[in-house]
Amino acid sequence: MKLLIIGANGQLGQDCLQTLTPQHTVLCCDVQEVDITDAPQVAGLFATHQPEAVINCAAYTAVDACETDQQRCMEVNAHGPQLLAEQCDKYNSRIIQISTDYVYDGKTSGTATIPRRRRDYAPFNVWKKQTQRR
Ligand SMILES: NC(=O)c1ccc[n+]([C@@H]2O[C@H](COP(=O)([O-])OP(=O)(O)OC[C@H]3O[C@@H](n4cnc5c(N)ncnc54)[C@H](OP(=O)(O)O)[C@@H]3O)[C@@H](O)[C@H]2O)c1
Repeated sequence: MKLLIIGANGQLGQDCLQTLTPQHTVLCCDVQEVDITDAPQVAGLFATHQPEAVINCAAYTAVDACETDQQRCMEVNAHGPQLLAEQCDKYNSRIIQISTDYVYDGKTSGTATIPRRRRDYAPFNVWKKQTQRR
């Protein structure tokens, strides 16, 4: 499968790269090549590579900084993934968005699905609220 790892220079991106490279054709990019908050850049990335699946490992992970830089947090952790999802829809690609226990409380057994009701999660900081917004 032709995979595209976004945020490939980060911790998670590097782990995905090492794990998936033996079995798949893996393409990588990070913010130096494509900023996921930049719609034309994201569109160009998909037009060029047309991946079958995308793993989004890009994130604004400075949780404390999100409290003071809320706009950028929203752009990177919510708007960027939305742009990726829209392009995946356009090219009929799968998208994998990875989260942490900052979003899910770990109380659900098995595979967690996207929380649809407010009572299913309890945001306690800006980072978590932004990841839940879309
Ligand atoms: N580690 C944590 O504390 C933490 C906290 C919250 C969520 N997560 C989740 O874990 C995953 C990533 O974690 P990680 O530990 O691998 O984080 P990481 O090491 O900080 O990697 C994130 C990568 O995303 C890149 N990036 C940031 N903004 C971008 C943009 N606008 N466009 C494209 N790339 C961008 C970063 O580049 P630069 O380094 O150059 O900015 C970095 O290479 C995400 O799914 C995230 O939701 C992790």
